[in-house]
Parts: sequence; C-alpha cells; structure tokens
Amino acid sequence: MRLDRPVVFGNWKMNGLRAEGLALAGTLAERAVRLTGTLGIFPPFTLIHAVAQRVKETAILVGGQDCHERASGAYTGCVSAPMLADSGAKAVILGHSERRHGLGESDALVRAKLRAARAAGLLVVLCIGETEAEYLAGARSARLAAQIDGSLPEGIGPEGLVVAYEPVWAIGTGRTPTAEEIRATHREIRAMLAKRIVGGDSVPLLYGGSVKPENAAEIMALGDVDGVLVGGASLDARSFWSIYQAGGGA
Ligand code: PGA
Repeated sequence: MRLDRPVVFGNWKMNGLRAEGLALAGTLAERAVRLTGTLGIFPPFTLIHAVAQRVKETAILVGGQDCHERASGAYTGCVSAPMLADSGAKAVILGHSERRHGLGESDALVRAKLRAARAAGLLVVLCIGETEAEYLAGARSARLAAQIDGSLPEGIGPEGLVVAYEPVWAIGTGRTPTAEEIRATHREIRAMLAKRIVGGDSVPLLYGGSVKPENAAEIMALGDVDGVLVGGASLDARSFWSIYQAGGGA
C-alpha cells in the first residue's frame, strides 16, 4: 500500500452512533473522490462495515482502533484482525496510549497484536509516546526506544507499518511539544527504526496529540513528519479536512 504525503488519520475513539458516523464519513467522501495524499478514518468497530461501504468509491482508508492477538477463539468481547479485514478495514491502530496506559497493554501484547494484524494484511499504525513524568524526567528517548524495541516483532519489514508519535500528555489536552521538540523526536524515531528494521527509515512517521487546523500546517512542515494522527478534531468533517489541506493534501 503506497501512502502519499500528507498521511492524515482520524481516530474517532468511542464516538459515533450510526447516523452521525455515516454523516461524517459521507461528508468526507464527497470531498475525497480523488486524493493527492492519504486520508484514513478509524471508527469504532460497530461502524467499520457501514463506513467502509459509505466511502468505497473514494481513496479513504478505513481502519479499526485495536484488534486481538488471536484470529479466533473463546475471547468474549474481542475482535480479531481477520474480522476487521472482513468488515472492510484496511488498517488498524495498535498500542494507543488509551490502551497502553488506560487498559494496561504491554509492549509484548502490542507486539503479538501487530503480528496478527500484519498476517491479516492490515496496515498497522503503531503508537508510541512518553508520559508526562517521563518527559519531565528527561526519559523520553529511553521510553520511545523501549516501546519500539518491545512492540515490533523480530524480522518485521517496513511495509505495512506506520509509526505515530503521541506524547501521552499531549493527547486530548490542547498541549503540544514545541515544533523543535517534534522535529527532533521524529528524527530520533526515524534513526531508531532504521536501526531496528531493515529499510526502517522509510516507515511513515505521524505526530499525534492535540492536532488542530490551527497547528497542523506548522507540524506537518517539519522534516521527518509525514502526517498526523488526529483524535478530537477528526470528529468534525470541516476541521479534519482543513488539517488534511494544511499538510498540502487536496
Ligand atoms: P487528540 O487525540 O487529537 O484528541 O489529542 C489524538 C489521539 O489520541 O490519537
């Protein structure tokens, strides 16, 4: 799957009943018949099939927000990677901080999920990011290196992988690192991936955490930032589309 810049992904989180989710997808679909960049939306599981149907004439990518590490079995309440693909998903977000920190997911579990998602042919958006305490303690690089090391299966290639850097303290808070911090951290992540994966420097890198139409252009103009992962602002079609345009997308 080729991912043209800017790569702009919207994580709807646990938002959207059928009517509003389909309306949002429909508005985006009208604007996105042809795309110069890559636009993706990640609705809740319940809407994946309907949303994928709604945008099927467009290049909009639809994905899930998580998957189980097994393909099937006695795992009440869980959804597997082949199920996501069967619903029309082409991608999945893994290791989001709301799952790592909110639900206690470890690097080892994220790694198992990543293996399952790639086996099902899904593009993986692997999220990494330091907490505020780690940031203040100057432990950001160590944390990111540990997450990259622990979340990526041995022998994985760069294909089908995107990494999103999302500082936990910037998610949903309205606070972001400075442009210089984002630039430096992305450069560092690029180097870590190059060390860990053969061809790893070609993995698209996204920034996530309080991205809005007002700060999107500055963030996406930074070297080594290939796009953004947007939460709150992706629930409004106009904001999400202006973020995409701010990154040069049309
Ligand atoms: P936010 O969320 O844009 O609402 O800060 C980002 C994310 O969680 O991916």
